[in-house]
Amino acid sequence: MKKESIKVFAPATVANVVCGFDILGFAVNEPGDELWMETSDKPGVRILSINGDEGKLSLDPQKNTVSASVISLLKHLGREDVGFELKLTKKMPMGSGLGSSSASAVAGLFAANELLGKPLTKLELLPFAMEGEALACGHGHADNVAPALFGGFTLIKSYEPLEVIALPVPKLFCALLYPHVDVPTRDARQIIRSKVLLKDAVTQWGNIAGLVSSLYTHDYDLLGRCLKDVIVEPIRSILIPEFDHMKTYAMENGALGFGISGSGPTVFSLYRSPDDAQKVITNLQKMLADKGVKSNIYLSEINETGPVVL
Ligand code: HSE
Repeated sequence: MKKESIKVFAPATVANVVCGFDILGFAVNEPGDELWMETSDKPGVRILSINGDEGKLSLDPQKNTVSASVISLLKHLGREDVGFELKLTKKMPMGSGLGSSSASAVAGLFAANELLGKPLTKLELLPFAMEGEALACGHGHADNVAPALFGGFTLIKSYEPLEVIALPVPKLFCALLYPHVDVPTRDARQIIRSKVLLKDAVTQWGNIAGLVSSLYTHDYDLLGRCLKDVIVEPIRSILIPEFDHMKTYAMENGALGFGISGSGPTVFSLYRSPDDAQKVITNLQKMLADKGVKSNIYLSEINETGPVVL
């Protein structure tokens, strides 16, 4: 195999989108991960370096989501003769609810697939990205990996069989705030009740259906009215400092909706105007700083491309 290299970017994602626990997600332009990959004469996948992870991620190819996904892909393709070396640059916080492990897995799979001459479609790459997600947090959900791979807004219509639907992308601005508190996905999943009341289920599926409908009709007032979660948010929000105060402030200052990104602790809100988004997110960061909580903030449109070659 001729020696070739590639550098790619894969985006962060907002999973759940308030009412769609485990079935809805969208990608953002910022933050995201960068990955450099090069073919090698020596078979197998090797991680040469990881930057931006504060030394937290394993360089062991079997234990790291990026390499483990690529190893599964090579096995599936019967190309275990191929060698890849990679350098990962984490440009987003980990364990933040922004789909950090998904971005890495998607970056690795996308880069490997490109270097192999694109043997698989994005849809065919999805199960390998889900395997990486299962390795990272114990559960192979697709609401981060699917939007990271396809870009835009995605609906996981079913897991068995896996069926993913690309939804229309709203022209809105997403404000993200990552408070520096620890909320591991495993823990955030464990505290949710496994049974729901029928009346809550009725409210929730009305909101999900309304949200999907609003994307097709570009009715962003309806979208805002649908960004409500009566099942997961009331429990998980207790893990996030000042959640109710932040939500009230955002909703009174132009947000169409406000909620937890993935399993948290990042919170996201959607706006028609970038100026409203900027003002709210800056003031929320100040609000948390006054309480002694540091945070990162990001402002982005919805990403429509998924991973790209840099
Ligand atoms: N849907 C998953 C959850 C996403 O909320 O646990 C995790 O990032």
